[in-house]
Amino acid sequence: MEYEEPKFFHVMEYAAAADGDVVDMVSGNPDWEPPAALRDALSEYANGPSEAFQYPPSEGIRGLRESIAARRNVDPDRIVVTNGTGEANYLAMARAFERDAGDEALLMDPVYPYYPGKTELLGGEPTLVPTERDGSLDIEAVRAAASDGTALIVLNTPNNPTGAVYDVENVREVVEVAEAVDALVVVDEVYDHFDFSGRFESALTLDSERVIVTSGFSKSMAITGFRVGYAVLPDEHAFPAKARHMLVNVAGSRPAQYAVAEALSATDADYYAEARDRLADRIDAFTAALDEAGAAYTRPEGAFYVLARFDGFPGTMANVKRLIDEAGVAGMPGETFGTARDEWIRFALVTPRAVEAAERLVEYFASDRKACREES
Ligand SMILES: Cc1ncc(COP(=O)(O)O)c(C=O)c1O
Repeated sequence: MEYEEPKFFHVMEYAAAADGDVVDMVSGNPDWEPPAALRDALSEYANGPSEAFQYPPSEGIRGLRESIAARRNVDPDRIVVTNGTGEANYLAMARAFERDAGDEALLMDPVYPYYPGKTELLGGEPTLVPTERDGSLDIEAVRAAASDGTALIVLNTPNNPTGAVYDVENVREVVEVAEAVDALVVVDEVYDHFDFSGRFESALTLDSERVIVTSGFSKSMAITGFRVGYAVLPDEHAFPAKARHMLVNVAGSRPAQYAVAEALSATDADYYAEARDRLADRIDAFTAALDEAGAAYTRPEGAFYVLARFDGFPGTMANVKRLIDEAGVAGMPGETFGTARDEWIRFALVTPRAVEAAERLVEYFASDRKACREES
């Protein structure tokens, strides 16, 4: 079996090895502090009894599952705590393919590259479905693509890389399509705390037997290294997903789950609002500089990425490397996110140097265009 590894680490390594100073806007690693309660809980854990250093329950520690369940308004039995949202997506997608309901996955284009990678890893066939120009769902396109062979539809809202926040009524329509062809819908909500539109609504509100919601704390608590995520599954899928989780991992990390559980109960809304406001300011500053650079861009309604298109400079891997070497700014090639935005480059705004990066882009494209004019 062949499947393609996502290119994030390749670009990050290239940027790290570059000669000059490079602003890293490749990956979605938050650059702000985790909640104070999380640091406290972790320190406290280090001095705990040795039993606390042993296996936790495979499905996740009870306190964390109960906290998530209370926040999500679901039964704790429906929750499995995973090694990040990444594993939650894997478990959920595996459930879709295990049912003998076909081997096709409909993925929205542009696509978070781990979805086609995981589909292939699980023996499925990815089909990219176009979205609207602003990244919102094109229901007719989903309907046209769905068939008896479709086992799975994957949605991600707020979306990486477009920043679109899906209208929950559109998600409902996708679920209806899934019902008609016996598919499951996996909705990845890992960016749920980063909604600038005020329109985000979890797919759990649809209360559907077809929907598995995945999420995690990597982004909301600025802890991508902790690897704590979860899936909320309909009853009939919860046990098999937990069995797969146990067979693959035995269990997740106990100290990480403990610290997240403590932080969940001790952290108030201001912590999340501060991170969101900081990002909103960066988006303003970065897009203002893109205006100055004459670039086209999509203004994100959620998550923390900006897709930008520079005239005559398509989002290929070669151009991204050129930008690293010549402008000192590292983004991700649009061509790695499916086919819909291969002219574009994605910039992650999780760096305090976002404005500096934007200034570098303005300068680079001003001199680049001047050089082009001089050549012609
Ligand atoms: C859409 C999406 N899903 C999942 C993940 C992985 O999240 P986690 O670190 O919780 O595994 C990311 C990380 O960038 C993401 O963008």
